[in-house]
Amino acid sequence: MSEGQARRVQEQFGPSATAYVASAGHAAGEDLDTLLAWGRARRPARVLDVATGGGHTALAFAGIARTVVAFDLTEPMLRAARDFIRGRGAPNVAFAAGDVVALPFGDGAFDAVTCRIAPHHFADVAAAIRQIHRVLRPGGSFLVQDILGHDDPDTNAFITEVEKRRDPSHVRAYRAAEWGAFLRAAGLTVMDEAVVRKVRVWDDWTGRMRMSAAARGELEAFVRRAPERCRAAFDFKLAGETIESFTDRMILLRADRD
Ligand SMILES: C[S@@+](CC[C@H](N)C(=O)[O-])C[C@H]1O[C@@H](n2cnc3c(N)ncnc32)[C@H](O)[C@@H]1O
Repeated sequence: MSEGQARRVQEQFGPSATAYVASAGHAAGEDLDTLLAWGRARRPARVLDVATGGGHTALAFAGIARTVVAFDLTEPMLRAARDFIRGRGAPNVAFAAGDVVALPFGDGAFDAVTCRIAPHHFADVAAAIRQIHRVLRPGGSFLVQDILGHDDPDTNAFITEVEKRRDPSHVRAYRAAEWGAFLRAAGLTVMDEAVVRKVRVWDDWTGRMRMSAAARGELEAFVRRAPERCRAAFDFKLAGETIESFTDRMILLRADRD
């Protein structure tokens, strides 16, 4: 990853680590249940959770695997995930720091790799997926979830601007066809696919990234000025001038190594 992007990620997520551990939207949901159900059916012994954040996906998979490695670029995030997971009494999770584009693991080291709500931060998603393919054994499963890119260019530009103003480490979200192309190019075949909705409560969502009052005010003015069809595409709920929530669509994929 470019040094600039790695620094942006670490600056954003380091001071927000405990907020991610506490985030209800990360701790649970239909999205995590679906990934776990797909994972359980594959009976993986060795799991790698890439971009573990607060550690919720790693903890869930610790219940179905022999060992899990929780991996993240941001060391304070990894420490917060370790405290959280150890506090939950899961003995089979190890922790490792690094960048997804240089995974410090051998070829074929894992039966499954998970990566939830993170690829939109990667500078080079294709390179990340090639690394994930390398560390999967043949027949192993990549279980990924991320924000789904919007097909309409103006609507997509609107939500990308909203995301970047809230979190400068947001790169972009990809459409389903783009995901299919990345996975195929790396030698992974899509076996399961789903789209689920996730409601973002505005105060929680902006607060988790510690936006200043001024930056948040400017972001809210940007949302209010946007064309109605852009807000409608994400079901923005406003009470007068106050933004209450919006809804993201998340793509979930299971792709197996050929
Ligand atoms: C929203 S959090 C992930 C949430 C988590 N997977 C879950 O299920 O709750 C995004 C994480 O991606 C990590 N990250 C971003 N870019 C990365 C990279 N290039 N390599 C590894 N981790 C990265 C950040 O440090 C951050 O902890």
